Amino acid sequence: MRQMHAVSSSDNVTGAVLYVERGCVHCHGPDGSGSGRGPDLSDVGRHRSKAQLERQIREGGKGMPRFGDTLQTDAIESLAEWLTTKRHPETRPRRSRSRPKSAEEY
Ligand code: HEC
Repeated sequence: MRQMHAVSSSDNVTGAVLYVERGCVHCHGPDGSGSGRGPDLSDVGRHRSKAQLERQIREGGKGMPRFGDTLQTDAIESLAEWLTTKRHPETRPRRSRSRPKSAEEY
């Protein structure tokens, strides 16, 4: 089923749904912060372009299955689009990386 018009906000929803439905969660974690099998994606939008993300999804590689056979182009695009919005340098206080100076005293 196709939407009449592709808007980026609905793409984000589609990407998030596909991420769960297509099993990306199993390797990249429910919130995209990685698991034992796949790397953290929570900041991937800063390091990869949309084209690179699409290629990774389509072709996989090094422990990631290829999805080019099972996902349609627009689905891959939605996922890539959604992933480009993943830019959280610190989603979780896992370890304190060099933080920008801010008035963060409590
Ligand atoms: C079987 C486990 C597995 C599944 C399922 C999986 N991945 Fe991956 N993914 C990996 C691994 C392992 C890598 C690292 C590959 C490498 O180092 O080249 C990776 C890498 C990536 C990268 C590149 C990260 C970077 O920093 O460049 C993206 C983007 C990505 N996966 C998205 C997805 C999406 C979207 C899905 C679902 C459609 C998915 N993956 C499903 C294991 C998986």
